[in-house]
Amino acid sequence: MPDSLRFTEAVRFRRPPGERPSPDPLSMDKLKIEGGVPLRGEVPVAGAKNAALPILAAALLTDGELQVANVPQLADIATMAKLLRGMGVRVERSGTDVVVRADAVTSTEAPYELVKTMRASVLVLGPLVARFGRARVSLPGGCAIGARPVDQHIKGLELLGATIRIDHGYMVAEAPRLKGTRIVTDMVTVTGTENLMMAACLANGETVIENAAREPEVVDLANCLTAMGARIKGAGTDRIVIEGVQRLGGARHRVMPDRIETGTFLVAAAATGAFGAADVLLRDAAPQTLDAVLDKLREAGAVLEAGANSVRVRMDKRPRAVSLRTAPYPAFPTDMQAQFMALDAIGEGVGRITETIFENRFMHVLELQRLGAHVAIEGNTAVVQGVPALSGAKVMATDLRASASLVIAGLVASGETIVDRIYHLDRGYDRVEQRLAALGGRIERVK
Ligand code: UD1
Repeated sequence: MPDSLRFTEAVRFRRPPGERPSPDPLSMDKLKIEGGVPLRGEVPVAGAKNAALPILAAALLTDGELQVANVPQLADIATMAKLLRGMGVRVERSGTDVVVRADAVTSTEAPYELVKTMRASVLVLGPLVARFGRARVSLPGGCAIGARPVDQHIKGLELLGATIRIDHGYMVAEAPRLKGTRIVTDMVTVTGTENLMMAACLANGETVIENAAREPEVVDLANCLTAMGARIKGAGTDRIVIEGVQRLGGARHRVMPDRIETGTFLVAAAATGAFGAADVLLRDAAPQTLDAVLDKLREAGAVLEAGANSVRVRMDKRPRAVSLRTAPYPAFPTDMQAQFMALDAIGEGVGRITETIFENRFMHVLELQRLGAHVAIEGNTAVVQGVPALSGAKVMATDLRASASLVIAGLVASGETIVDRIYHLDRGYDRVEQRLAALGGRIERVK
C-alpha cells in the first residue's frame, strides 16, 4: 500500500465518533463540470471559516468550555481541531456544533506539519503566550499566493512583553504576564490583529491596537471573546482598545455567515445569467458584510435584493466586465478577486483587476487562459478582455479562491471542464459541488 493511503487510513481511524469525515487533505478528487446552465434555487451559506478559525484558537485562553455553533465542515477546521487536540485540548464536534475545552493542556507547540498546511495555525500563538507564558509555533514559510510574513504578530507580542526567538524554524515565545501597551501595525493584517487582540485580553492593563483590521471576522471574534469575559472596545474600527482581565471563562457563540462563500455563490449565479434567467436565493447570509461585492455585481448588471439574513441575485444576460481594486475591509476583498475574474472573462468589455494585498495572487490567470479567457497581466493588474464564451478544458486548482474561480469558469464554459487538485477548494467550501448541483449546475465530484 502506498504511504499516502496508509496515512489517510490512520487519520480516519483516529477521528472521534460522531464526526463527519473531514475533506481529505490528500484527496486527488476532481470536479467534472458541464457548463451552460443558469443557476436557480435556494442554498444555505455555511459559517465563516475565517471567523471560526480564530474563535477555536480563542478556546486556549480559558479552562472553561467554549461552545461554538455554525462551524463549517471544512479541511481547515479539521486542521485546527487536530492542532488543538495535539496540545491536549478536547474538541468534540457534532455536525456544525463544536465544543472545545482547554483545561488539560499538555503542549504549547504548533508543529511545522500542521502550520505548513494551514497558515492560520499561527492564531494559537497569541492565546498560548498570554495564558501559559510560552509557545513554540512553526514559522509558516511561503505560500502559493505570496510571501505572507508574520513579523507583525511577532512585533506586537514583543511590545506586549514577550521575548521571541527563532529556533530551528520555530518561533519560541516566552513571557511573564503580558503588559498592555500601544501597538501600531505597519500594515492592516487580519490574523495579526486577531492574534494580538486575543493576547491582550489576558494582559495586565490596557492595550490599544492602531491600524487594526476592520474585517467582520475580527468583530465576530471580539464578540466571542466578550462573551468569554473580555473587555474590548472598537472592534470593527481601526482602533481596538482591550482592557486586560485576570481570566476568561467559557461561553457560547454562533459563528457569523461566510461572506466569501456568499460572494462566490452570487458571482457563480450572475455569471450563468449569460445562458438564461439565473435566480438564486442565499439563506443564512449576512449581506451587510458584502457591500463592495454587491456593488460590483450590480455594476456587472445583476439585480440584487438583500434581506436581513438572505440575499437574492437575478441575472438574465451576459455580464458587463467590471474593474476593481482589492484592499482591506470595507473595500473589495482579495478573497473575491479571482471569482470576479471568471465573471469578467465572459463579460462585455474590459475589466481591470488590481490586487494590492498579496503579490502573487494571479495564479488562476494561466488556468483561465486554458479555458479561452483573454487576460494580460500588467504588474499587479490583470486586464481582462471579455469573450462571448469560454471552452471547457482540464485545469488545475492552485489555491483556495483560485479554485473557486475555475469552478465558476467551468459553469460558463461550453463542454466539459475538469478541475484537478480540488483539495484546495475543500479547504474553504463545504461540498460546493452538491450545493451547485442543487441549483441546477451540472457538476460532480469524480475520484
Ligand atoms: C486573512 C485571511 C485571508 C485573506 C487575508 C486578507 C484568515 C484565516 N485568512 O489572511 O483569507 O485573504 O486575511 O484579507 O483570516 N503581512 C505582513 N506581515 C504580517 C502580517 C501580514 O507583511 O505580520 C502582509 C501579508 O503578507 C499581506 C498583508 O499583510 O500582504 C495582509 O495579510 P493578512 O491580513 O495578515 O492576511 P492573513 O491574516 O494571513
